[in-house]
Amino acid sequence: MDYKKYFSEDVPSFMRSPVREIFSKVNLEEICSFAGGYPAAVTFPTDVIPGLAGKVLQKYGAKALQYGPTQGVPELRQEIAKRYEVPVSQVQITTSSQQGIDVCSRILLDPGDIVLANNPVYLGALQSFKAYRARILPLTYYYNNADFRKDNPGKVKFIYVIPDFNNPTGETMNLREREALVGIARELDLIIVEDSPYRELRYSGQEITPIRELAPERTLHLGSFSKIFAPGFRLGWIIGPEPLLEQIYVCKQCLDLCPPVFDQYLATEFLCGGALDRNLNKTIEEYRQRRDLMVSLLEKYMPSGVSWTHPQGGLFIWLTLPEHIDTVALYEKSLAAGVAYVAGSFFYVDGSHRNTMRLNFSYIERAKMEKGIKILADILRSDV
Ligand SMILES: Cc1ncc(COP(=O)(O)O)c(C=O)c1O
Repeated sequence: MDYKKYFSEDVPSFMRSPVREIFSKVNLEEICSFAGGYPAAVTFPTDVIPGLAGKVLQKYGAKALQYGPTQGVPELRQEIAKRYEVPVSQVQITTSSQQGIDVCSRILLDPGDIVLANNPVYLGALQSFKAYRARILPLTYYYNNADFRKDNPGKVKFIYVIPDFNNPTGETMNLREREALVGIARELDLIIVEDSPYRELRYSGQEITPIRELAPERTLHLGSFSKIFAPGFRLGWIIGPEPLLEQIYVCKQCLDLCPPVFDQYLATEFLCGGALDRNLNKTIEEYRQRRDLMVSLLEKYMPSGVSWTHPQGGLFIWLTLPEHIDTVALYEKSLAAGVAYVAGSFFYVDGSHRNTMRLNFSYIERAKMEKGIKILADILRSDV
């Protein structure tokens, strides 16, 4: 049977994630993986979850196993509202922040529209934007090109940014850059989608005001429990203006009716009892050590001509190699030697910058990290 003829016109725009393809082919236990953005298993609060689960059943009974409100259960919305000092009416719970990106795209984008984003950009966001047949352009290109703006009126709906500990580069926007971005968004009258799953994972430096506080009237701020609780629960939230959330709420009804109810009550209890903050402190300490170790190993082993970012938080370090090194071509060799990474060009809309790579430092145990970086450095050295 020819199944292709049944597919919608959107289907050719769906893009496979190269990171997920990598993971489907390797046994993570057997290799040194610097590839995915997986949290470390030791940060999962497995010791408190059984107690929390019992408490949820005792406290909420059948309600915890029933369908819930599309906006999320009121108890969790209230906890999020309290934590981030916003009205409950401005909180929508999502089935993870990937869904947050997708619902924002779904309510805002028509085919042919333009999203302004950094290049390189988070792959999952690229997948969503492409699925809605949008084009992705760098903000600076659009802002500095008056002719292009005149030729494409109304085509841009939003700017997508990850201001804190960007995926893939690990970099953070300073306050001046955030204010400038807000200035442009106001001047061009655009929404800002602030994707913020790593904001609470800061290991050094000072906290910087989130964009949602600088421009609450036009920011959809996406948060996630994936990196501060466990990604398996698939829970996140959106903080934003009520008229936008109202549309997201209607959109979410046809996506999943409601976010996972039992998980939401678990997250509520994890938050309100202070267990989240206690666990977060331990997570931050663990990741700080992993980041510091990775930086020191890069300094020790990488050949000259290789440079990298110095993230103050998050999960990733971004490497730039001499121009002639092709990280896509080197990948099979690296995997055969037992090391996985993600080639940087996968994060570029046009597949350029093949001399870059993203390294994750949160997943790999410290004991294995030296072996992995040494192997990687040897492979690069043989190509330098
Ligand atoms: C920038 C960014 N946004 C969103 C997500 C999706 O996270 P989740 O759907 O687990 O909340 C990720 C995951 O790595 C990410 O790096």
